[in-house]
Amino acid sequence: MSDEPNLGVEVPFFLKKNESALSLFLNGFYFLYKGEGTCTEALAKYNNEIAFQIEEKEKRAAELEIANQELNEAKNMFSSISNALAKEKELNELKSRFVSLASHEFRTPLTTMLSSLSLITKYGEINDLANQAKHVAKIKASIDNLTSILDDFLSLSKLEEGMVLPKPEKVNLKDFIDEIVLEMRLMAAGKQQIVFSHSGKQFAFLDKKILRNILHNLISNALKFTKENGLIEVVGKSSLNFIKISVKDNGIGIPHEDQKHLLQRFFRGRNASHIQGTGLGLNIVTKYLEQMKGSLSFESEENIGTTFIIKLPQ
Ligand SMILES: Nc1ncnc2c1ncn2[C@@H]1O[C@H](COP(=O)(O)OP(=O)(O)OP(=O)(O)O)[C@@H](O)[C@H]1O
Ligand SMILES: [Mg+2]
Repeated sequence: MSDEPNLGVEVPFFLKKNESALSLFLNGFYFLYKGEGTCTEALAKYNNEIAFQIEEKEKRAAELEIANQELNEAKNMFSSISNALAKEKELNELKSRFVSLASHEFRTPLTTMLSSLSLITKYGEINDLANQAKHVAKIKASIDNLTSILDDFLSLSKLEEGMVLPKPEKVNLKDFIDEIVLEMRLMAAGKQQIVFSHSGKQFAFLDKKILRNILHNLISNALKFTKENGLIEVVGKSSLNFIKISVKDNGIGIPHEDQKHLLQRFFRGRNASHIQGTGLGLNIVTKYLEQMKGSLSFESEENIGTTFIIKLPQ
């Protein structure tokens, strides 16, 4: 349909042949007079047409608005489903990667245990108690190793599935760290030493299980990456607003190029490949610290040593 109204005006036939000024005037007058009614009607029709079109457009805009809202809802749903899917996929990948890594890591301690067991039997036949005790200790160390791999995996699964919620309680911090250090001394090899000092407030409010796990990871790294005569210094400081615990060692250190990747899952330093581990410990520590709104930092120099520092709010 055309947008222009059809005025439908005719020039009267009796004036068509006569082109004088009067006839032109009369002609114009007649034109206006005859056209007025038809023009108003056409304008009204035109107005109605426009009003109808506006109404239609408004209807369409409202429909479009609803469709847009539905599209946005669908988009949001899609993105939350794909997020959940990505998380699930990541967890599955993590589990399968862990299983292949753990089965590889399991083989070494299991082989050690098997050979130590057959040696214990042999030493038993000749009553060599000293060598028997040595192999019993080897079996114990291997079992500790397997347990720590399994602990890592369980912690990570629980953390990923959001099953770890801190349960803070009042703790005598100095006594608590002292207790952990005593436990860790049992894991020390050769002349390795762990010393501990504490300053500031005695009591803190925190989740003991989580702190134990964090310190366990940091101190066992310090032992693992330090030579037989290594010195590990654990220092606790607690003030009104925060707790700071540092674990310093004089071990192999972390190469500068590796430092930026250190907290990534499964990452292991290039100078650590000959030492057992899965590369999960520090990642778990950072996850635990996130839960406690704390932070982890470190300083390290290759062949000089490493210091890890945790900071927790109070
Ligand atoms: N105290 C340290 N001294 C030197 N290197 C360290 C120290 N702590 C961590 N690292 C480096 O960081 C890497 C990652 O540490 P992380 O604790 O995550 O893994 P891991 O000890 O190798 O294995 P896992 O803890 O899973 O048994 C280590 O492989 C090592 O290269
Ligand atoms: Mg570790």
